[in-house]
Amino acid sequence: MENIIKEIKHKPELKDLPNSLVEKTLNEYLSKNGISLSNSIKERKIIIKEIRAQLRKYSGQYTSKSNIKNREELIKEGRFSEILNQHASTRERSADYEEIKEIINNLNPKSILDLGCGLNPLAIASQEVNYYAYDIKEEDLNIVSEFFKINGIKGEVHNKDIRITDNFPKADLCIIFKVLDILGDNRNETARKLLTTINSNFFLISFATRTLGGKPMNSPYRRWFEKILNELKYPYEVKRMKQEVVYLIKKA
Ligand SMILES: C[S@@+](CC[C@H](N)C(=O)[O-])C[C@H]1O[C@@H](n2cnc3c(N)ncnc32)[C@H](O)[C@@H]1O
Repeated sequence: MENIIKEIKHKPELKDLPNSLVEKTLNEYLSKNGISLSNSIKERKIIIKEIRAQLRKYSGQYTSKSNIKNREELIKEGRFSEILNQHASTRERSADYEEIKEIINNLNPKSILDLGCGLNPLAIASQEVNYYAYDIKEEDLNIVSEFFKINGIKGEVHNKDIRITDNFPKADLCIIFKVLDILGDNRNETARKLLTTINSNFFLISFATRTLGGKPMNSPYRRWFEKILNELKYPYEVKRMKQEVVYLIKKA
Protein backbone atom coordinates (compact mmCIF):
# COMPACT_ATOMS: atom_id res chain seq x y z
CA MET A 1 0.00 0.00 0.00
CA GLU A 2 2.73 2.46 1.01
CA ASN A 3 4.54 1.93 -2.28
CA ILE A 4 1.55 2.50 -4.49
CA ILE A 5 0.63 5.66 -2.53
CA LYS A 6 4.15 6.93 -3.12
CA GLU A 7 3.87 6.09 -6.81
CA ILE A 8 0.49 7.82 -7.16
CA LYS A 9 1.86 10.98 -5.53
CA HIS A 10 4.87 11.03 -7.82
CA LYS A 11 3.46 14.00 -9.76
CA PRO A 12 4.18 17.65 -8.90
CA GLU A 13 0.48 18.57 -8.63
CA LEU A 14 -0.26 15.63 -6.28
CA LYS A 15 2.85 15.43 -4.13
CA ASP A 16 1.43 17.63 -1.33
CA LEU A 17 -1.79 15.67 -0.84
CA PRO A 18 -1.99 13.85 2.51
CA ASN A 19 -1.39 10.08 2.34
CA SER A 20 -4.68 9.51 4.19
CA LEU A 21 -6.60 11.07 1.29
CA VAL A 22 -4.75 9.00 -1.32
CA GLU A 23 -5.34 5.84 0.70
CA LYS A 24 -9.04 6.60 1.19
CA THR A 25 -9.52 7.31 -2.54
CA LEU A 26 -7.66 4.14 -3.45
CA ASN A 27 -9.63 1.96 -1.03
CA GLU A 28 -12.93 3.41 -2.23
CA TYR A 29 -11.93 2.71 -5.83
CA LEU A 30 -10.89 -0.87 -5.06
CA SER A 31 -14.05 -1.71 -3.14
CA LYS A 32 -16.35 0.05 -5.66
CA ASN A 33 -14.85 -2.05 -8.45
CA GLY A 34 -14.61 -5.22 -6.36
CA ILE A 35 -10.87 -5.59 -7.00
CA SER A 36 -7.73 -5.82 -4.92
CA LEU A 37 -4.24 -4.51 -5.55
CA SER A 38 -2.78 -6.83 -8.12
CA ASN A 39 0.79 -7.63 -9.01
CA SER A 40 0.06 -7.25 -12.70
CA ILE A 41 1.99 -4.22 -13.92
CA LYS A 42 -0.72 -3.42 -16.45
CA GLU A 43 -3.56 -3.44 -13.89
CA ARG A 44 -1.49 -1.46 -11.41
CA LYS A 45 -0.87 1.20 -14.06
CA ILE A 46 -4.60 1.50 -14.76
CA ILE A 47 -5.36 1.85 -11.04
CA ILE A 48 -2.68 4.53 -10.62
CA LYS A 49 -4.05 6.45 -13.60
CA GLU A 50 -7.63 6.29 -12.27
CA ILE A 51 -6.67 7.38 -8.76
CA ARG A 52 -4.56 10.25 -10.06
CA ALA A 53 -7.49 11.45 -12.17
CA GLN A 54 -9.75 11.32 -9.12
CA LEU A 55 -7.24 13.18 -6.95
CA ARG A 56 -6.79 15.88 -9.57
CA LYS A 57 -10.52 16.49 -9.37
CA TYR A 58 -10.22 16.95 -5.60
CA SER A 59 -7.30 19.29 -5.89
CA GLY A 60 -9.55 21.25 -8.26
CA GLN A 61 -6.87 23.00 -10.20
CA TYR A 62 -3.97 22.40 -12.46
CA THR A 63 -1.00 24.45 -11.39
CA SER A 64 1.78 24.46 -13.93
CA LYS A 65 5.40 24.12 -12.84
CA SER A 66 6.24 27.63 -14.01
CA ASN A 67 3.35 29.00 -11.95
CA ILE A 68 4.67 27.26 -8.83
CA LYS A 69 8.12 28.78 -9.32
CA ASN A 70 6.68 32.18 -9.98
CA ARG A 71 4.49 31.89 -6.88
CA GLU A 72 7.51 31.56 -4.63
CA GLU A 73 8.80 34.92 -5.86
CA LEU A 74 5.40 36.55 -5.49
CA ILE A 75 5.06 35.28 -1.89
CA LYS A 76 8.52 36.55 -0.99
CA GLU A 77 7.51 39.96 -2.32
CA GLY A 78 4.05 39.86 -0.70
CA ARG A 79 2.29 40.22 -4.09
CA PHE A 80 -0.77 38.22 -3.03
CA SER A 81 -3.29 39.71 -5.47
CA GLU A 82 -1.18 38.41 -8.34
CA ILE A 83 -1.21 34.98 -6.72
CA LEU A 84 -5.01 35.14 -6.52
CA ASN A 85 -5.06 35.64 -10.27
CA GLN A 86 -3.12 32.43 -10.81
CA HIS A 87 -5.68 30.25 -9.08
CA ALA A 88 -8.57 29.21 -11.32
CA SER A 89 -11.32 29.55 -8.68
CA THR A 90 -10.31 32.90 -7.25
CA ARG A 91 -9.46 34.35 -10.69
CA GLU A 92 -12.85 33.37 -12.09
CA ARG A 93 -14.53 34.84 -9.03
CA SER A 94 -12.94 38.28 -9.37
CA ALA A 95 -16.16 39.56 -11.00
CA ASP A 96 -18.23 38.23 -8.11
CA TYR A 97 -16.03 39.04 -5.10
CA GLU A 98 -17.57 42.45 -4.54
CA GLU A 99 -21.04 40.96 -4.17
CA ILE A 100 -19.74 38.08 -2.05
CA LYS A 101 -17.90 40.44 0.28
CA GLU A 102 -21.07 42.53 0.66
CA ILE A 103 -23.03 39.44 1.75
CA ILE A 104 -20.29 38.59 4.26
CA ASN A 105 -20.04 42.16 5.59
CA ASN A 106 -23.80 42.24 6.16
CA LEU A 107 -23.45 39.19 8.39
CA ASN A 108 -20.63 40.91 10.30
CA PRO A 109 -18.91 37.64 11.32
CA LYS A 110 -16.19 37.69 13.96
CA SER A 111 -14.99 34.26 12.87
CA ILE A 112 -14.99 32.40 9.54
CA LEU A 113 -14.45 28.71 8.88
CA ASP A 114 -13.46 28.21 5.22
CA LEU A 115 -13.56 24.57 4.04
CA GLY A 116 -11.64 23.60 0.89
CA CYS A 117 -10.40 27.18 1.07
CA GLY A 118 -7.82 27.18 -1.74
CA LEU A 119 -6.59 30.76 -1.89
CA ASN A 120 -9.97 32.27 -1.06
CA PRO A 121 -8.74 33.61 2.35
CA LEU A 122 -6.43 35.98 0.46
CA ALA A 123 -9.51 37.76 -0.86
CA ILE A 124 -11.75 37.54 2.20
CA ALA A 125 -9.72 37.49 5.43
CA SER A 126 -9.22 40.64 7.47
CA GLN A 127 -7.73 41.62 10.81
CA GLU A 128 -11.18 41.89 12.41
CA VAL A 129 -12.03 38.23 11.81
CA ASN A 130 -10.62 34.98 13.21
CA TYR A 131 -10.09 32.82 10.14
CA TYR A 132 -9.93 29.00 10.12
CA ALA A 133 -8.79 27.69 6.74
CA TYR A 134 -9.03 23.98 5.81
CA ASP A 135 -7.75 22.30 2.66
CA ILE A 136 -5.93 19.18 1.52
CA LYS A 137 -3.45 21.20 -0.55
CA GLU A 138 -0.46 22.01 1.55
CA GLU A 139 0.96 24.31 -1.08
CA ASP A 140 -2.09 26.62 -0.96
CA LEU A 141 -2.20 26.49 2.83
CA ASN A 142 1.44 27.62 2.99
CA ILE A 143 0.55 30.70 0.96
CA VAL A 144 -2.50 31.37 3.13
CA SER A 145 -0.40 30.99 6.26
CA GLU A 146 2.20 33.43 4.93
CA PHE A 147 -0.59 35.85 4.01
CA PHE A 148 -1.99 35.69 7.58
CA LYS A 149 1.45 36.30 9.03
CA ILE A 150 2.36 39.25 6.80
CA ASN A 151 -1.04 40.93 7.27
CA GLY A 152 -1.40 40.37 11.03
CA ILE A 153 -4.51 38.21 10.63
CA LYS A 154 -5.57 35.89 13.44
CA GLY A 155 -5.79 32.78 11.32
CA GLU A 156 -5.17 29.05 11.46
CA VAL A 157 -4.55 26.66 8.59
CA HIS A 158 -5.42 22.96 8.79
CA ASN A 159 -4.27 20.40 6.27
CA LYS A 160 -7.27 18.10 6.68
CA ASP A 161 -9.70 16.13 4.56
CA ILE A 162 -13.05 17.71 5.38
CA ARG A 163 -14.87 14.43 4.67
CA ILE A 164 -13.28 12.75 7.65
CA THR A 165 -12.72 15.65 10.04
CA ASP A 166 -15.14 15.96 12.93
CA ASN A 167 -14.03 18.64 15.32
CA PHE A 168 -14.24 21.88 13.34
CA PRO A 169 -14.01 25.06 15.41
CA LYS A 170 -17.18 27.04 16.08
CA ALA A 171 -17.51 30.03 13.73
CA ASP A 172 -20.05 32.75 12.95
CA LEU A 173 -19.90 31.90 9.25
CA CYS A 174 -18.88 28.75 7.40
CA ILE A 175 -17.79 29.18 3.77
CA ILE A 176 -17.64 26.26 1.34
CA PHE A 177 -16.93 27.56 -2.16
CA LYS A 178 -16.93 25.16 -5.11
CA VAL A 179 -16.04 22.12 -3.05
CA LEU A 180 -19.15 20.01 -2.42
CA ASP A 181 -19.42 18.88 -6.06
CA ILE A 182 -15.97 17.32 -5.97
CA LEU A 183 -16.32 15.27 -2.80
CA GLY A 184 -16.86 12.03 -4.70
CA ASP A 185 -19.40 9.30 -4.03
CA ASN A 186 -20.25 10.44 -0.51
CA ARG A 187 -21.04 13.98 -1.59
CA ASN A 188 -24.63 14.11 -0.26
CA GLU A 189 -23.77 12.38 2.97
CA THR A 190 -20.77 14.68 3.56
CA ALA A 191 -22.77 17.82 2.74
CA ARG A 192 -25.48 16.79 5.21
CA LYS A 193 -22.91 15.95 7.89
CA LEU A 194 -21.10 19.29 7.51
CA LEU A 195 -24.36 21.23 7.64
CA THR A 196 -25.62 19.47 10.73
CA THR A 197 -22.44 19.08 12.78
CA ILE A 198 -20.65 22.38 12.19
CA ASN A 199 -21.42 24.92 14.85
CA SER A 200 -22.09 27.99 12.72
CA ASN A 201 -25.11 30.27 12.40
CA PHE A 202 -24.62 30.87 8.71
CA PHE A 203 -23.26 28.93 5.75
CA LEU A 204 -22.26 30.48 2.45
CA ILE A 205 -21.92 27.69 -0.08
CA SER A 206 -21.21 28.05 -3.78
CA PHE A 207 -21.20 25.88 -6.89
CA ALA A 208 -19.79 26.49 -10.35
CA THR A 209 -22.16 27.48 -13.14
CA ARG A 210 -19.84 26.23 -15.85
CA THR A 211 -18.70 22.73 -16.65
CA LEU A 212 -15.01 21.81 -16.36
CA GLY A 213 -14.83 22.39 -20.12
CA GLY A 214 -16.02 25.99 -19.57
CA LYS A 215 -19.53 25.59 -21.04
CA PRO A 216 -22.45 27.19 -19.14
CA MET A 217 -24.49 24.55 -17.28
CA ASN A 218 -28.11 24.10 -18.32
CA SER A 219 -29.30 23.95 -14.73
CA PRO A 220 -26.70 25.43 -12.36
CA TYR A 221 -28.98 25.20 -9.29
CA ARG A 222 -28.15 22.09 -7.24
CA ARG A 223 -31.48 20.41 -6.61
CA TRP A 224 -29.79 17.59 -4.64
CA PHE A 225 -28.41 20.20 -2.26
CA GLU A 226 -31.69 22.13 -2.00
CA LYS A 227 -33.42 18.84 -1.14
CA ILE A 228 -31.05 18.39 1.82
CA LEU A 229 -31.66 21.99 2.99
CA ASN A 230 -35.42 21.50 2.76
CA GLU A 231 -35.24 18.22 4.68
CA LEU A 232 -33.18 19.90 7.40
CA LYS A 233 -35.59 22.86 7.36
CA TYR A 234 -32.70 25.31 7.05
CA PRO A 235 -33.97 28.53 5.41
CA TYR A 236 -31.84 29.71 2.49
CA GLU A 237 -31.53 32.31 -0.24
CA VAL A 238 -29.88 31.51 -3.52
CA LYS A 239 -28.12 34.05 -5.73
CA ARG A 240 -26.92 33.48 -9.23
CA MET A 241 -23.70 35.37 -9.79
CA LYS A 242 -21.57 35.61 -12.93
CA GLN A 243 -19.56 32.45 -12.32
CA GLU A 244 -21.27 30.74 -9.41
CA VAL A 245 -24.54 30.06 -7.66
CA VAL A 246 -24.29 31.00 -4.01
CA TYR A 247 -26.50 29.67 -1.23
CA LEU A 248 -26.79 31.71 1.96
CA ILE A 249 -28.13 29.36 4.61
CA LYS A 250 -29.29 30.16 8.11
CA LYS A 251 -29.01 27.28 10.49
CA ALA A 252 -32.21 27.13 12.47
C1 LIG B 1 -12.37 24.29 -6.88
S1 LIG B 1 -11.25 24.53 -5.58
C2 LIG B 1 -12.07 25.86 -4.69
C3 LIG B 1 -11.12 26.62 -3.81
C4 LIG B 1 -11.78 27.74 -2.99
N1 LIG B 1 -12.84 27.25 -2.13
C5 LIG B 1 -12.31 28.78 -3.91
O1 LIG B 1 -13.48 28.70 -4.31
O2 LIG B 1 -11.55 29.67 -4.27
C6 LIG B 1 -11.58 23.14 -4.53
C7 LIG B 1 -10.74 23.13 -3.29
O3 LIG B 1 -11.20 22.10 -2.43
C8 LIG B 1 -10.08 21.42 -1.88
N2 LIG B 1 -10.57 20.07 -1.51
C9 LIG B 1 -11.03 19.10 -2.34
N3 LIG B 1 -11.39 18.00 -1.64
C10 LIG B 1 -11.14 18.29 -0.33
C11 LIG B 1 -11.29 17.55 0.89
N4 LIG B 1 -11.79 16.32 0.87
N5 LIG B 1 -10.92 18.14 2.05
C12 LIG B 1 -10.42 19.41 2.06
N6 LIG B 1 -10.25 20.16 0.94
C13 LIG B 1 -10.62 19.61 -0.24
C14 LIG B 1 -9.07 21.44 -3.02
O4 LIG B 1 -7.75 21.20 -2.59
C15 LIG B 1 -9.27 22.83 -3.59
O5 LIG B 1 -8.46 23.78 -2.96
